[in-house]
Amino acid sequence: MSKVINLKNIVLIGMSGAGKTVVGQYISNKLNMEFVDTDDIILQKTGKTIKDIFEKFGEEYFRQLESQVILENCLEGNKVISTGGGAILKDINRKALKENGILYFLKGTIETLISNIQSSPSWKNHRPLLNKGSLYDNMQNMIRDRYKLYEESADYIIDIDNKSINEIGDEIIFIFKQ
Ligand code: S3P
Repeated sequence: MSKVINLKNIVLIGMSGAGKTVVGQYISNKLNMEFVDTDDIILQKTGKTIKDIFEKFGEEYFRQLESQVILENCLEGNKVISTGGGAILKDINRKALKENGILYFLKGTIETLISNIQSSPSWKNHRPLLNKGSLYDNMQNMIRDRYKLYEESADYIIDIDNKSINEIGDEIIFIFKQ
């Protein structure tokens, strides 16, 4: 597919298990736009898993790294940015992402999110906020605390239930190109 010239980023937001990384990779390939996954950059920069960062330095330290990565990567535009589930919690992140991009909230039911999370054997290394106690309860609490914020932050809400990666990605591409 031909290259799309649009200086805005495509920013994917939503909970763990929404498919932000795989959908972001699909869109990036199809539109020939650079792909950025904020969690992966944190991993590359620190050489540590997110679980290790949380355990050794705490959540606030992780959030500082996350903000730094977002600010460093969103200014140029023309990128597909997959954010970590908590990226929209900070005003400074929301402002930077919105000023330079179009935000798509990948919204799914708890069943979809949990089934996607559990399909990856190493999910616990990336999700220290979910791996203690009941995954269902942790997800339910997070959905309750965050869904309003995702909805308010989003330019578009994309329903992900019962859709393939390609279907979700194509829907976003269709909106982005209009
Ligand atoms: C987090 C989600 C994770 C990761 C970190 C914190 C969150 O990313 O950034 O564990 O606060 O919801 P994914 O959304 O890719 O799972």
